[in-house]
Amino acid sequence: MTTFNFSDQLLIWFDQSGRKNLPWQQQPTPFHVWLSEIMLQQTQVSTVIDYYHRFTQQYNDIQSLANAPIDDVLALWTGLGYYARARNLHKTAIILVQKYNSQLPDNLYELIELPGIGRSTAGAIMTLAYHQRFPILDGNVKRVLARYYAIEGWPGKKKTENKLWQCAEELLPTHRIANYIQAQMDLGATVCTRSKPKCEICPLQENCDAFQHNVPQNYPSPKPKKIIPTRQTNWLIAQLETGEVLLEHRPNNGIWGGLWSFPETDNSKNIDDFCQNKLFINVANITTQPYIRHVFSHFKLDIHPYIIQCSIDNNHIAENKSLTWYKIDAALLIGLPAPVKLFLEQLQKMRN
Ligand code: ADE
Ligand code: SF4
Repeated sequence: MTTFNFSDQLLIWFDQSGRKNLPWQQQPTPFHVWLSEIMLQQTQVSTVIDYYHRFTQQYNDIQSLANAPIDDVLALWTGLGYYARARNLHKTAIILVQKYNSQLPDNLYELIELPGIGRSTAGAIMTLAYHQRFPILDGNVKRVLARYYAIEGWPGKKKTENKLWQCAEELLPTHRIANYIQAQMDLGATVCTRSKPKCEICPLQENCDAFQHNVPQNYPSPKPKKIIPTRQTNWLIAQLETGEVLLEHRPNNGIWGGLWSFPETDNSKNIDDFCQNKLFINVANITTQPYIRHVFSHFKLDIHPYIIQCSIDNNHIAENKSLTWYKIDAALLIGLPAPVKLFLEQLQKMRN
């Protein structure tokens, strides 16, 4: 693993192209660094700036934040999202007043113990506010390092994350630590971006493994897809000679809740019997269609369509109000799941 010049190249780049006019960089007190780092978790700089100004106009130190009613703190957070951040910020301010003489500790382990401060945020406070030598590993830094060293594995996995922390630690310079950490953040946000990284202007390209192999977009590895189960169902598409189809109103809960779909059976039931006894139709002819795979978030559904030419069985009165005959034109105007709508449109074309 080479660490040749990573930090020097980054610092030279920072002097030319890094961000030096962000509001929280003007007076980087531990309070300002802490507040900005919390706001910047999962949120872009451009969004944070206005919130940061409004917040610091109300609360510009630990004491005043600790004394504020939580509802007022939450009001200032409205629109920024992830409100647990605001609650933890307030909780931490109170702890700091009670246990730390209204100061943020200048100690990584004490920082990590505080609500809302993880290892990376603690590292940012240690470097940006206290100029001590610690790594950070936020989303931007993970991406840069995963590409630079072509590290395989999803960074959400402990093993991959540990590797990235180790790289981050080994790369730390012995001087200008605050500028270096800011440079890492800035490079990830402006050059080594998630999509279309600007490798052509990147100070690290010479030693960047992913760039040298022309595969930056392969890193970091994506979250592994969950293996989701596949369920089977049969659609009974009963159609009268006059073209109407039988639709069933689905229960309000469950998949496609409250929408109209074709009656369904599983393979445990005989289709002829089901048609006779549950749908009250006399079957003239059944044809099958190729199955349709529909993907939900938690499972796949393989739908086996049966087109059933039929007539209404007049010996039975359908007491089941959720079953209704529709002309296809009319059916296309009611609430339908997407694959039902698609199927009806095809059925309509076949008849025309
Ligand atoms: N993202 C997280 N921390 C940041 C900082 N200090 N400057 C810019 N973007 C950031
Ligand atoms: Fe990222 Fe490209 Fe720079 Fe490598 S060369 S660190 S992939 S921007």
